[in-house]
Formats: sequence, C-alpha cells, structure tokens
Amino acid sequence: MNKELINSLKGLLGLLLGLSIFLVVFMVGLLVINQNPELLLSEVEEEKPVSLVQDDLVKDGVHVATGLVAKEGYELVVANCTNCHAADLVIQNRGDKEHWVSLINWMQETQGLWDLGDNEEKIVAYLSENYAPIQKGRRANLTDIEWYELKD
Ligand code: HEC
Repeated sequence: MNKELINSLKGLLGLLLGLSIFLVVFMVGLLVINQNPELLLSEVEEEKPVSLVQDDLVKDGVHVATGLVAKEGYELVVANCTNCHAADLVIQNRGDKEHWVSLINWMQETQGLWDLGDNEEKIVAYLSENYAPIQKGRRANLTDIEWYELKD
C-alpha cells in the first residue's frame, strides 16, 4: 500500500470514530431526556388561570375590577349588580333616586333581580349620589379667543 492510501484510510477512520462518539453522546442524551423529561420542561411552568385584577383592589378611588366609584356602599353594588351584566351598564346610567328605584323595580319584575331587602336603600343612595344626573347647564364661557378685526 502506498502512503497516500494509508493516510486517507487513517483520515476516514478518524472521521468514523468522531461520528460514532457523537452518535453515542447523542443517544445517551436522548435516553437521559427520555427518562427525565422535566430536564427540558423545567422552565415551562403549568399555567394557572390568574386573575389579573385583585377583586378588592381600589385605585384612585375606583374599584379596579368593576370601574365603580369606591364610595360607601359600592361593595353592595358589586355584590348585587354585576352578576347579570357588567358594571359598565350601571356606570353608563345616571339618575336620581327615583330613576334608580324604578330601574331596580323593572329588573325585579322582568329580569329576575332578587329582593334587595335593607340593602336597596343603601344601593339607591350610592347610585343616586355617585351616578347622579349630569348637569346639563349652559356650557362654560369660551376662553383664550383671538378676536380679529373685521375690515370693510
Ligand atoms: C338578575 C339579573 C340582574 C341583576 C342582578 C341586575 N340586573 Fe340590571 N339588568 C338586567 C338585565 C337583563 C338588563 C337588560 C340588559 C340589556 O338590555 O342588555 C339590565 C339592565 C340594567 C341597566 C340598563 C338599563 C337601560 O336602560 O339600558 C342598568 C342601569 C342596570 N341594569 C342596573 C342594575 C343595578 C343597579 C343592579 C343592582 C341593584 C342590577 N342592574 C342588577 C339584569 C339584572
């Protein structure tokens, strides 16, 4: 055999050896992972449904979960008025005591709202105070006007 052939055979052998070492390491790795899958998955934690908003969190005077003004009695409204529809429906509405009482009566007669008992008075007080009719008075005077002179 000539030297060149021997050298290329050596090279081939080296390559094969390298390949088989790689294969063995690869197989062992596969085996280990197969036995202990948590090695790969350890960082993927099971996702639990997490409520983003704390139920009783109040920020800047607003009950964060519902958007209701966090004044006296709002817990009663959260407890009794957010079961069937979002609090938005309450917030978007405005009126005096009479308005709120008639709304509550309407929901009781037609929508299955329960008897609110002693709480009705407190709820109506809360609503008529914090969601009172918007004053529809004359708009405020304009300020900051740049008058221009009429030329004829
Ligand atoms: C048993 C279910 C139920 C409960 C509890 C309930 N509502 Fe309602 N409410 C309804 C339904 C149904 C409607 C009609 C929804 C619609 O039109 O999409 C409604 C509508 C409303 C509206 C809108 C009325 C309009 O003119 O559009 C307001 C305001 C309201 N409710 C306030 C309240 C308040 C305040 C409470 C707590 C005292 C309350 N709701 C509790 C069922 C309920």
